[in-house]
Amino acid sequence: MYFIQTIILTVFLEVTKGEVCGCKSIRPCYKRMLDKLLLDDEDACVENVSVGVNTVTIFLKAIKSYCSNTVKVYENLTTTENRNLYEVVINGTKPNVKEDETLPVIVLDAGQDAGTETVAFALYVIEQLLACAENRDMIRNVRWVILPSSNPDGTEYSRNEMETWRKNCNNINTKSYGVDVTRNFDESWNNCPANKNIFSQKYPGRVPNSENETIFIMEVLNKYKSDIKTYVSLRRDGHGIFYPYASKNITFSSIEKVKKRAGDVAAKVNQRAGGLQWFVNDSIFNMNREAHCGHSVDYAINKLNIPFSFEMRIFSKTDDEILSNFQSLPKGHEVTLRAGYFSGIREIYNSIMNERKQKKQAK
Ligand SMILES: *[C@@H]1O[C@H](CO)[C@@H](O)[C@H](O)[C@H]1NC(C)=O
Ligand SMILES: *[C@@H]1O[C@H](CO)[C@@H](O)[C@H](O)[C@H]1NC(C)=O
Ligand SMILES: *[C@@H]1O[C@H](CO)[C@@H](O)[C@H](O)[C@H]1NC(C)=O
Ligand SMILES: *[C@@H]1O[C@H](CO)[C@@H](O)[C@H](O)[C@H]1NC(C)=O
Ligand SMILES: *[C@@H]1O[C@H](CO)[C@@H](O)[C@H](O)[C@H]1NC(C)=O
Ligand SMILES: *[C@@H]1O[C@H](CO)[C@@H](O)[C@H](O)[C@H]1NC(C)=O
Repeated sequence: MYFIQTIILTVFLEVTKGEVCGCKSIRPCYKRMLDKLLLDDEDACVENVSVGVNTVTIFLKAIKSYCSNTVKVYENLTTTENRNLYEVVINGTKPNVKEDETLPVIVLDAGQDAGTETVAFALYVIEQLLACAENRDMIRNVRWVILPSSNPDGTEYSRNEMETWRKNCNNINTKSYGVDVTRNFDESWNNCPANKNIFSQKYPGRVPNSENETIFIMEVLNKYKSDIKTYVSLRRDGHGIFYPYASKNITFSSIEKVKKRAGDVAAKVNQRAGGLQWFVNDSIFNMNREAHCGHSVDYAINKLNIPFSFEMRIFSKTDDEILSNFQSLPKGHEVTLRAGYFSGIREIYNSIMNERKQKKQAK
């Protein structure tokens, strides 16, 4: 009797384990990690945890120790408040890999604008790539470079304070200002009217590239530039994918291909996000209806020649003044939206693979 119960319990556990964290089946390294965490009474899925800087640190430490064959975590730079700027590199090993084979790279950054939702989503992407056996091809064929929390001081500050905060916390104690990292990149930095108001949430810094957060993202983009097939900067407050430019309303020669990819991603997200046909695609300039100078996407395309560079806005909040261009999304849809956004990320992977296939056939 006892024995049978044990068997039933075991089978039950296997089945539910199989569906843990939205995965159809779990890869062995992740299963070992979950078993250990569950024993310690921790939550198994990162999407169920409220995200602060500690969550990021603990989660990355766990995956690093359990899945070290697939994931590397670098922390070479720190912020004003001494928090780590993490670079997470994920790639599986291809069977029969050639010596000189380099994988195409997809770079995602999150948290530049001090939001928590994008950081949480970046951790979810890391989880889905590492945990779900059904995503194995995605990590065998592509190297994922993910900067899950690229402005941790700002994210922590905006989480704890009542005011809306979009900057980092450089000099915040002595002179009470921070710098808007999203406007600090050395590309078209001077094209916008000078903003010297240090209290503005859009304060771009005294000079471009003045912030460690900016330097960090730039160094990562530079390190992989020859292999980067797509760069996506995840931003908060919105629901759509946006292509260059941010600082001017003009196009460039390969824009049609870039637009098409944005359209494909939008179609996928809409299809998956439960019939909410509201994930839009447009240029960053048109979305903002004004120039956003010093933008990392403009930096990626103009300085590093990465045309497939996008800003992706996720989890629109209803109560924000800039949101008049987005539909307010019904509450309680977080899980559906998350799955929808992830299918957009998967679509980017699929587009890159299709392009490779066509190139090979053409040869
Ligand atoms: C954790 O997240 C999964 C989906 O990713 C969900 O099925 C589960 O119910 C969540 N658990 C809790 C305790 O919220
Ligand atoms: C960070 O450090 C690691 C190892 O020390 C090195 O391989 C990597 O290139 C460094 N990354 C950057 C962005 O400097
Ligand atoms: C920038 O990062 C370096 C290396 O981690 C650190 O020594 C320095 O203090 C940081 N600068 C600021 C302004 O935070
Ligand atoms: C993927 O990463 C591992 C180490 O993390 C490396 O040994 C391997 O060669 C990489 N590339 C491929 C194509 O497998
Ligand atoms: C992408 O944007 C274009 C132009 O606004 C629009 O015609 C198209 O329907 C959009 N695609 C999706 C899938 O929403
Ligand atoms: C940008 O240019 C396009 C066409 O040239 C125009 O339709 C659009 O309204 C312009 N956007 C803004 C915000 O001025």
